[in-house]
Amino acid sequence: MNASIEFNGNKYELPVVKGSENEHAIDISTLRVATKGLITLDRGYKNTGSCESGITFLDGEKGILRYRGYAIEELAENAGFLEVAYLLIFGELPSKAELEKFHQDIKNESQVDEDVKKILDGFPKSAHPMGVVSSLTSALIAFNPGSVNVDSKEDMYQAIVKIMGKFPVLCAWALRKKAGQPLDYGDDSLGYIDNILKMMFKKPNQEYKINPVVSSALNKLLILHADHEQNCSASTVRIVGSSHAGLFASISAGVSALWGPLHGGANQAVIEMLEAIKEDGGDTKKYMAKAKDKDDPFRLMGFGHRVYKNFDPRAKIIKKSADEVLGDLGIQDPVLDIAKGLEKEALEDNYFVDRKLYPNVDFYSGIIYRALGIPTEMFTVMFALGRLPGWIAQWREMRLMKEPIGRPRQIYVGETYRPYMEISNR
Ligand code: CMC
Repeated sequence: MNASIEFNGNKYELPVVKGSENEHAIDISTLRVATKGLITLDRGYKNTGSCESGITFLDGEKGILRYRGYAIEELAENAGFLEVAYLLIFGELPSKAELEKFHQDIKNESQVDEDVKKILDGFPKSAHPMGVVSSLTSALIAFNPGSVNVDSKEDMYQAIVKIMGKFPVLCAWALRKKAGQPLDYGDDSLGYIDNILKMMFKKPNQEYKINPVVSSALNKLLILHADHEQNCSASTVRIVGSSHAGLFASISAGVSALWGPLHGGANQAVIEMLEAIKEDGGDTKKYMAKAKDKDDPFRLMGFGHRVYKNFDPRAKIIKKSADEVLGDLGIQDPVLDIAKGLEKEALEDNYFVDRKLYPNVDFYSGIIYRALGIPTEMFTVMFALGRLPGWIAQWREMRLMKEPIGRPRQIYVGETYRPYMEISNR
């Protein structure tokens, strides 16, 4: 199958690539050479496929999300986070023995050099944990300087278990530093999720008891966040890694990309927005009007998605889960009612309906994080903990497929040539 374009009186045939779910793409890799200079322009890459990938499939019209062919609904209901991480990274669900080995190898690599604490000490307590986590992840490069030989299965595997082991420690340390708590190295006898909870919340003078409701809710949330194909942070990880910068450098860049409020930072922004509405008397209509006013920069945070134009399947699961978790924990959070009120109004409002704006993964997740006792500034760090296997899987696939360095073109619209002018004449 081909697509043809006409330019300057000449016709060019371009092959069309078809994906396993019948998605089509015009392969323009020969376009510039064949046409002697023509490129495509696609702000925000709204129409551009940057790669062929076998990791995650999503259909924005039908609200489908699958990891390696498995439906997100089934995984969220039945799987463990580490099992999903293995699936995303290596392509298949692990056997019991494979999963145990993966977990053991991660535990063996979960120590972080004591000197990293000195770096952490340099940050003010007021620092946002995402900035701290991004910096500490980057610092890991200095403590693990060897580059990964991507042609060696063993080298790749070691790099993967290292980052899976150390990243949660850094996230927990970012929180503990903020809370003025001593740093903890976790507990090898626990599962991956329970260990994260203990590392974050164990008080120095108290035993930490795992609450199964909290543990299971976090497991589900992290699975729902684990990958989302070529989103802003995954694309960042791939493009940084495409220069053959190492895995830690690529993940650190991914954390920075995730931080922004249009991406993962939206979960923090949603709770702050809901709180502000509550403080303002709960007048949701006023905020709906602000969101629709083109002269007002306010956006309804947690609404809209580049790909989902019908519903976000993750948001559906999280909304249901929010009711269950708050019920199980005996928590009544007035912002949950405000959120539901906003959703109802938006779904009946032409502005949102016409633009196909629906609640996304971040709309209800913060309400659950809050119920689990996680401070607001840590919400995006929780997202990063969930997204880590997705970033690793994207990086690994990109390197194994020997993708070329990511280097877009541009259309130059600046000044044309002008001679240098001496400073005395300016
Ligand atoms: N509130 C009000 N209007 C909105 C919103 C919103 N949340 N989102 C989009 N719009 C409007 C936008 O103003 C534009 O209107 P018009 O056509 O009249 O100019 C139209 O809808 C299309 O928006 P867009 O910004 O061109 O769409 P996009 O695909 O570039 O952006 C988005 C997608 C998620 C960045 C955007 O919907 C947004 O800013 N949402 C709020 C932030 C948010 O919740 N982000 C989390 C995304 S999901 C998790 C993740 O990615 O990590």
